[in-house]
Parts: sequence; C-alpha cells; structure tokens
Amino acid sequence: MYYTAEDGRQILDGTAGLWCVNAGHAHPKITEQIIAQAKTLDFAPPFQMGHTKAFEAATTLAHMAPEGLNRVFFCNSGSEAVDTALKMALAYHRMRGDGLRTKLIGRERGYHGVGFGGIAVGGIAGNRKHFGPSLSAVDHLRHPLDISRNAFSKGLPLHGAELADEFEQRLLALHDPATVAALIVEPVQGSTGVIIPPKGYLEKLRSICDKYGILLIFDEVISGFGRLGSAFAADYFGVIPDLICCAKGLTNAAVPMGAVIAKQSIHDVFMQSAPENGIEFYHGYTYSGHPLACAAAIATMQVYHDEKLFERAANMSAAFEQAAHQLKGLPHVKDIRNLGLVCGIELEPLPGKPTVRAYEVFERCFWEKNLLIRTTGDIIALSPPLIISHEQIDTLFSTLAEVIQSIK
Ligand SMILES: Cc1ncc(COP(=O)(O)O)c(C=O)c1O
Repeated sequence: MYYTAEDGRQILDGTAGLWCVNAGHAHPKITEQIIAQAKTLDFAPPFQMGHTKAFEAATTLAHMAPEGLNRVFFCNSGSEAVDTALKMALAYHRMRGDGLRTKLIGRERGYHGVGFGGIAVGGIAGNRKHFGPSLSAVDHLRHPLDISRNAFSKGLPLHGAELADEFEQRLLALHDPATVAALIVEPVQGSTGVIIPPKGYLEKLRSICDKYGILLIFDEVISGFGRLGSAFAADYFGVIPDLICCAKGLTNAAVPMGAVIAKQSIHDVFMQSAPENGIEFYHGYTYSGHPLACAAAIATMQVYHDEKLFERAANMSAAFEQAAHQLKGLPHVKDIRNLGLVCGIELEPLPGKPTVRAYEVFERCFWEKNLLIRTTGDIIALSPPLIISHEQIDTLFSTLAEVIQSIK
C-alpha cells in the first residue's frame, strides 16, 4: 500500500499507482513469476506463431471475462487496446459485407488513451487540439455528469438515464444508424474526474446498439480487475458489451500489457473471411503476448483469485463510501461521487484559476502528509489498491479532510 520515497518516507498509495496496481505493490508471487519467465523465454514472435504462456494468459483472461467474450488479442497498453478494438469493429462490419458502417461514436469527457483512434473517440479537448483533424467519421454523446441533480450521490446517480436516449434520438437520427460501426464508452469515466453512470443508462445504450446492429465497446482499462468489486464493470452492471478493452490491472502494472476481449461471434467472422493461410486481421504488435507480460498476467489473475481481491473490494466499498461522504460540508467541496473502490471529490475552483486548488491539495498530501492522491482539473480521484484496510481508508480520508480544510 506504500511507496518509499528517497528520504525514506512511506507514502500511502491512494491511487493504485495510476488505477493499476490493484493487488498492491511488488506482490511477491507476481515478481517471482516475472523473474522465472525472464530466465525461460525472453521473447517469441507473435505473428503466425504463439507460445504456451500467451495461450495460457488468454485462456485465463477469457475465463475471467463475462460469458460469451472468450477471444483475446494482446497488446501493450490501454491506448493500443482501444485502437485495436476500434479497428476490429470497422473490419468486422466490412468483412460481413456491411462496409457502410464506418462511423465511431464516443462520449464527451471520455478518455481512451492517446492513439489517433483513442483521441478521436475521446472527449478531452486538450488531448485533441494539437493533433489535427484525426479521424473524421466520429461523433460524441454528451457525458452524464449532472451535479445540479445528482450531487453527493452514493453509488449510481438517480438522474440522467434519459441522456442515453440521445444516442438514438440525436446522433443516430443525424448519422443514419446503418453507417455506425461502434459505440465506445468507459462504463465509469475515470480520467476526467470519476463520472458514474446514472441508474439504467448503460442498459439503454446496450439496447440501442442491439436495435441497430452497432457494436458496443466497453473501455474497462480502469474499471476492470476488481475496481468495482467484480471482475469487470460489465459484470457489475449486468450489461455485456461486444468488445472489452483492458490493461493496467491485467498485470498489476508490473509489466505493460493490454488486451481486447471479443465475443466469439466477432472472432469467427475474421476467421471465416480470411483466405486459407491468409492473414485474418491486419494488425498486431511486436510485443503482443510478450512472455514477461503473459507471466505477470497469469500470476496476477491467480493472486486476484487466491486472495479473493474482487470480493474484498466489494466488501470494502461500503466503508470506502461512508468515509468518502464524510467530507461533505468541508470548504470548497461541491460534489462527492463513488462506486466500488473509486471516488471523485470535486472542489469549487479558485476564481479564475482552474486546477490550482486541487493541485495544492495534491502537493500538500504528497509532501506534508505522505499520501498519494490524483487530481484532474479540480477533481480529486481516488482508486486505492484493492488490499486497502479499514484503517488505511480512515487515514486516507481523514488526511484528505485535514488538507482540504487547510487550503484557501
Ligand atoms: C479508460 C482508459 N482507456 C485507455 C487508457 C489508456 O491507457 P494507457 O495509458 O495504458 O495507454 C486509460 C488510461 O488511463 C484509461 O483510463
């Protein structure tokens, strides 16, 4: 649960590194397997070939994934997983003879990494504006954050499911649903400050996609691997997408790795469309299924299972929620939102100086209080490792409260 600074200070990790060290830092069982793998097979080409550990990692991940999603494509990051999934969606429709479906829909304030596909469907202006037009056939849903109606919601906000209807009534009406290949959303938006989907919202998106033959992609780069107390957010919500992007917690971040998990039916279209001995999917990375990453992934998923960390996260989430909402009423705090072991605390910005107030909280926590938090804009985002104890939850929020009270 701690980083050790150069001066020996023990810093409590309130962010699991960057939403990724879900099993805690330097887990010996994961470290051991990475070392053993480095001594056994350092690299093997992933094109036209595979190695045992890649198949084992894929099989283990497929078992953990929601039913029906059982085909795995490995890459090296969340950004690569997103670009891979978008390309899969486009190619899938084309291979089925439905090549009109070339448009991709994302969401405002969505974060899908920094590849050209990811920034195009993503909805963060700063990530897009320096890089030209990127993909053109893209549009965005509105994001569902509505502090005026949902401030201080515990768990799923009650208001806003109707925003999902806009997908059909506004975007599909405008674009013609027969031209849309896929909708990509983070089930819980993380990077832009923890936006929890309103009750019933994701279910609506799923049913609209079904109605029009549009693939639904869940970007579970942060919501996967126990963050909400289940393997994936898809399980938590009972909403099953066609493709899942994941990374981060897949290897406990000890070795970079990402993956796309696809429905068998999508995989089969590729396999059936390619000529014998031909390439099924013109896409891949030198380091896809890297042996060290596979060893880390297998060990990590074993740790999640053996230590029942997803159940643990589910059990701790009530205490986490309660401690988080005790900050209601502190100066500058305009909203607190949470789900599983994720929490966003939104501060009123300093007049004319957005981000400065939250950043000061971050700095004071880190340098004076030995606590690592994350801020994005004026929002504090917390996502501790799933091994956090009750005592550490109390320390996390009481330290934060003290710092928030002390700033201007
Ligand atoms: C939802 C989501 N998608 C994609 C990414 C990009 O992942 P990476 O930084 O591994 O490329 C992130 C990173 O935080 C993310 O939160």
